[in-house]
Amino acid sequence: MGRDVYYRVMPGGPLRGRIRVPGDKSISHRAIMLGAIAEGVSHIRGFLEGEDSLATLHAFRAMGVEIEGPEHGDVRIHGVGLHGLRPPEAPLDLGNSGTSMRLLSGLLAGQGFEATLTGDVSLSSRPMRRVIDPLTRMGARIKATKKGTAPLHILPVDRLDAIDYALPVASAQVKSCVLLAGLFARGKTCVTEPAPTRDHTERMLRGFGYEVSTDGARICLEGGGRLRAANVEVPADISSAAFFMVGASIAAGSDVLLEHVGINPTREGVINILRRMGADIEVLNPVEVGGEPVADLRVRSAPLHGIRIPEDQVPLAIDEFPAIFVAAACAKGETVLTGAAELRVKESDRIQVMADGLGALGIDARPTPDGMVIRGGRLRGGAVESHGDHRIAMAFAMAGLVTEGPVTIHDCANVNTSFPGFVPLAANAGLGIEQQ
Ligand code: S3P
Repeated sequence: MGRDVYYRVMPGGPLRGRIRVPGDKSISHRAIMLGAIAEGVSHIRGFLEGEDSLATLHAFRAMGVEIEGPEHGDVRIHGVGLHGLRPPEAPLDLGNSGTSMRLLSGLLAGQGFEATLTGDVSLSSRPMRRVIDPLTRMGARIKATKKGTAPLHILPVDRLDAIDYALPVASAQVKSCVLLAGLFARGKTCVTEPAPTRDHTERMLRGFGYEVSTDGARICLEGGGRLRAANVEVPADISSAAFFMVGASIAAGSDVLLEHVGINPTREGVINILRRMGADIEVLNPVEVGGEPVADLRVRSAPLHGIRIPEDQVPLAIDEFPAIFVAAACAKGETVLTGAAELRVKESDRIQVMADGLGALGIDARPTPDGMVIRGGRLRGGAVESHGDHRIAMAFAMAGLVTEGPVTIHDCANVNTSFPGFVPLAANAGLGIEQQ
C-alpha cells in the first residue's frame, strides 16, 4: 500500500460559480468497450480520464485495439469488430473498477481465448457470482475463488447460447454483462430487471447501430450482429456533480451552476431525493446529446429536512448515497433509508463506513442491514476513514463545509478513480480543502 493521501478541510464555504465536473464514468467505460468491438474508427469526446475508465482503456489496448489518446478527453478507437480482439499476454488489471470487471467478463466470455481479470484489494472482495452464474448458464467457463471473487479466469469455449435471464438484483452491471455476452451468443438474449437501472448500455448499443428491444422491464438483443463505429459525447457525471449538489445545499449562501450534466432518468434519483428534502435544484437548458439527456443544474442553499427515502429511488441514486447521507446529517429531523443492501458491496461497505464516519463527527447514524437511520444535527470536526472509497472521501470533504472544526479524511488516493482534479475544482468553488 502507498502512503496515506489525506484531505484536510477547513470549515467554511459557501460554494459558488460555474463548475464542470469530469465525464461520466459509466458512459466512458461503455464507449471504449463498444468502440473496440465496432467496425471503423469511433471518436469519444469528454472521456473521463480517471483510473477506472483508464483501466478499461488499457485492457483493450492489451487485447490489440489501437486507441489514440486520451488527450483532453478526446479518444479515437480503431475498432476491430466483434471477433477481432487478441488474447491478452498478461492478466488484465482492472484496479478498483467493478464496472470494468463485470462488463468485461460478459464481453470476453465468448471470445474463444483465455483471459484473467484481476483487481485491487477492494475489487477482489466484491461479489462476482452475480455475473459468473448467468454467464455459466450461457455456456461460459469462468473460474473464481471459492468465495466467488476475483481473480476471474475466463476459459475458451466454442460458443455461447442465448438465455432469458431474470436479474436477482437490480444491477446495471449484471444487466450489461449479460447483454454484452449476448452479442456473441447464438439466439436472442433477454434480461428482465426487478427495477429500472441505468440504461447506458442499451442506449449506446443503439447508437452503434445494434438493435436492442425494450419492453417494460425486459431487454433483448440477437447475437451475431455488427456494431458500426460512432461518435460519443460524454456528459459530465451526475455522480460527481452530486457532491456539489449536496455541498451547495448545505453551505449557506451557496449558488453553483453545474454545467452539462447527464440527467438520464435512470440516474436522476439524487435530484429527486434532495428535492424531497427541500433542496433548491433547477434544471436548465435541457438538451439531448448523442442519445443521452443533458442539462445545467443550478443549486442554491436551502434548509433540508429528513425524509423516508422511497425505495424506487434507490437504484436510480445508487452511487450517490454517501453524499445523500451527508445531506441527511445536515437536515432537520430523521432520514430513513431502506432497500439499499447493495450499498454494502460497493467499493466499501458504504452503510458501515458512512455510519462510522458520521458518528465520528457527532451525528447519530444507525446502520441497518439494508440502509441507515440518520438524525440530523450539528457536525463537529474530527477524523474519518474513507477506506479507500472515492465517494466516501468526497462526501466527507463536503461535510467539512458545515463542521464546527476541521475535518481530516484518510485514504483518499482513490478519488482519482472517478474524479481527477477534485481538490482544485472544489477549492476553486469555495471548499477549504487541501490534499496532504
Ligand atoms: C454501474 C452500475 C452500478 C454503479 C456503478 C456503475 C455501471 O453498479 O454502482 O458505479 O456503470 O453499470 P450496479 O449495477 O452493480 O448497482
